[in-house]
Amino acid sequence: MGEATLPDGWVGDFDLYDPAYLDEPSSVWRAMREGCPVARSSRRGGAVLPVRHADIAAVARDTATFSSRALEATGPVPRPGNELRMPPITSDPPRHAGERKVLLPLFNRAAVAALEPGTREAAAALVDQVAGRPTVDAADAFARHIPIATIAAMLDLADDDVAQFSTWIVQFLKEGPRDQGARLAAIASITGYFTELVRGQRPVGGGGVVAELLRRRDEESLTEDQIVGMCFLLLVAGIDTTWSAIGSSLWHLAAHPDDRRRLAAEPELLPTAVEELIRVYAPITIARVANAPAEVGGCPVAAGERVLLPWAAANRDPAVFTDPDLVVLDRARNPHLAFGLGIHRCLGSGLARMEIRVALEEWLRRIPEFELDPDRPVTWTGGNVRGPESLWLQIPGSAP
Ligand code: HEM
Repeated sequence: MGEATLPDGWVGDFDLYDPAYLDEPSSVWRAMREGCPVARSSRRGGAVLPVRHADIAAVARDTATFSSRALEATGPVPRPGNELRMPPITSDPPRHAGERKVLLPLFNRAAVAALEPGTREAAAALVDQVAGRPTVDAADAFARHIPIATIAAMLDLADDDVAQFSTWIVQFLKEGPRDQGARLAAIASITGYFTELVRGQRPVGGGGVVAELLRRRDEESLTEDQIVGMCFLLLVAGIDTTWSAIGSSLWHLAAHPDDRRRLAAEPELLPTAVEELIRVYAPITIARVANAPAEVGGCPVAAGERVLLPWAAANRDPAVFTDPDLVVLDRARNPHLAFGLGIHRCLGSGLARMEIRVALEEWLRRIPEFELDPDRPVTWTGGNVRGPESLWLQIPGSAP
């Protein structure tokens, strides 16, 4: 645990991409809680940053004042009507409830259970490829492929399209926040692909979400834009998030041998441990835009200003969690906000939990011993999603 320190000028003009914040945001949150619990910035489109659990929860609950119309953590706040629409996550009441209802059945227990064997097969095949190597970038060679395989199965995409999707997602989520050109190019490619599917210009797998939404199109009065936006959302919400959560979990286990050995020896602990790893390494920071002048934690917010919701900061608040910076693999009570709260609470939380658990089960079964490569330290992504960009691990006992 690092010292509670703030980078220079943080409270009045923070930078989400400050190396110290990318590396260890929790020490910044701790220092803010002890001093000024809300920071603001004019950089990267400007934003207000609360870090207390109560402040973050209050913004998420107040959907009348704080709109979900633009969720990007950085970049110019788009004018109303110019946003990238991904219903239901970018919709406000009253439109939101109906759109969410359309997607709900796709995420029930039976739907998640049906995807588990495919996720396990993909994870086991990836572990087979990795297990013999003395060093491996587990973010690139393992973590990111698991959600891609799962979402591709969920959407019933053609096998040939899966690698292409991975490239677009990287372009959109990892390069996009810093490179507007890459972001727009990725949006155009992804939207174009789904539009062709919806218009029947490409074959659609009959067992997937696209086919299901097309079947219910009339009954739910869905427009082409809504279906394309929903597919886009599943891709964006479902891949980078889970990839980052799996990567952060492996990073933690590599850096904490006691936890790694315990989990390898007691795999029945995994569901509780996954919950705790998601709490501590919650990857998402999402934005709201104020509809009217407001206040967050005593800090005034102007209409049109962006407010950030760093869910992991809420999860580290000592007002709610005992020893918040400590990973306790069998933490009994864990009401974390990694999946958000209120009307937009994550629809894919069951799916994400399954993917992380299966990924760790398969990895630990075959590779119980691994550690961080001291010559290649982890690098973290920032902005909307924090996770290991590269995660070099050494696997003792593998042939050099
Ligand atoms: C560890 C992985 C994941 C994390 C940490 C996560 C986190 C979140 C968070 C914090 C929200 C709330 C956003 C807000 O308040 O604006 C959210 C919403 C959402 N997530 Fe996830 N998510 C994950 C995985 C997934 C997966 C795998 C899917 C589906 C494939 C998914 C689909 C959604 C959808 C559809 C919403 C929007 C719900 C609504 O607006 O009503 N998520 N997620």
